[in-house]
Amino acid sequence: MNVVLKSQNDVEKMRVAGRLASEVLDFITPYVKVGVTTGKLNKLCHDYMVNVQGTVPATLGYAPSGHRPYPASICTSVNHQVCHGIPGDKVLKHGDVINIDVTVIKDGYHGDTSRMFYIGEPSIQAKRLCETTYEAMWRGIRKVKPGATIGDIGHAIQAFAEGSGFSIVREFCGHGIGRRFHEDPQILHYGKAGQGMTLQAGMIFTVEPMINAGKKDIRMLGDGWTVVTADHSLSAQWEHTVLVTEEGYEVLTLSTGSPAAPVLAAATTHA
Ligand code: MF3
Ligand code: CO
Ligand code: CO
Repeated sequence: MNVVLKSQNDVEKMRVAGRLASEVLDFITPYVKVGVTTGKLNKLCHDYMVNVQGTVPATLGYAPSGHRPYPASICTSVNHQVCHGIPGDKVLKHGDVINIDVTVIKDGYHGDTSRMFYIGEPSIQAKRLCETTYEAMWRGIRKVKPGATIGDIGHAIQAFAEGSGFSIVREFCGHGIGRRFHEDPQILHYGKAGQGMTLQAGMIFTVEPMINAGKKDIRMLGDGWTVVTADHSLSAQWEHTVLVTEEGYEVLTLSTGSPAAPVLAAATTHA
C-alpha cells in the first residue's frame, strides 16, 4: 500500500475538482428523461466539461492494465448494469434507473462522483434499492475519521445493505484519488469493524458501493467494460469523494444539486 497523504494545496485543488464533478451531474439532471440516449447524455456532459468547465473527462481513453481504453466521457449503467456502462444508442424508457458516473480532472487533480436517476416513475423495488444504496454510502462515509479503519466503513455499508435484503458487489471498491484516478487504499464495501488500514487525516478516497437487488455475482459484457448482474437483477450505485479531516470527514463532491444526506436515527437495528 502506497497511500498518499494530501497537502493543504492538494486538498484545495481536490475541493475544486470534486465540486466540478458534482456540477456535471447537476448540469445533466434535466436531460435524464424518457427518450434520451445514453450517447446524447455523454455528448452533453463531454461538451460541458471541456467547453464550460475547462475540465478533462478522466474516463475518456482511460486504460488500466488488462483493459482496452474506455471510449466515453461518463459511465452510464442502466438497470441490471452494475458499473462502467458505455454510453451509446440505448434509449432510456419509463421505469428505467440509471447511474451516471463522472470523473473530471482539473489542474491535475481528480474528482469522482456518481448518482442514480429515475426515468419517470420507478418501481417500488427500484426506488427501495436506490434509496438503500444511498443510505448505505452515507453510513459508510459517516464512519470516516482518524483512527477508524477501512473495515468500519465496509461493515457499516454491508450491514445496512444486507439487512435490507440486498447484496454487495465484491469485485469493485472505492479507491484513493488525487493526481491519479485510482490510488491506494482500496475501500471495500464489506468487511469487519476494526479491521484493515487505519484512517489518517489527509487521506482522500471514494466510497462507491454497488448493491444488487438479487445475488452479488457479476459478469462482464463482450465490450470489455460493461459489468452486469449475473442474475440480471437491478443494481444501484452512488459515489462520493471524501477527505479524512482531524475531526472526521469532508465530502468533496457536493454541489447545489446534491441530494441531502439522509437523516439517520441515533440508534437503529443496523448500527
Ligand atoms: N468512475 C469510476 C470509478 O468510480 C471508474 C470508471 S473507469 C472507466 O472508479 F474507464 F470505466 F470509465
Ligand atoms: Co471511483
Ligand atoms: Co466514479
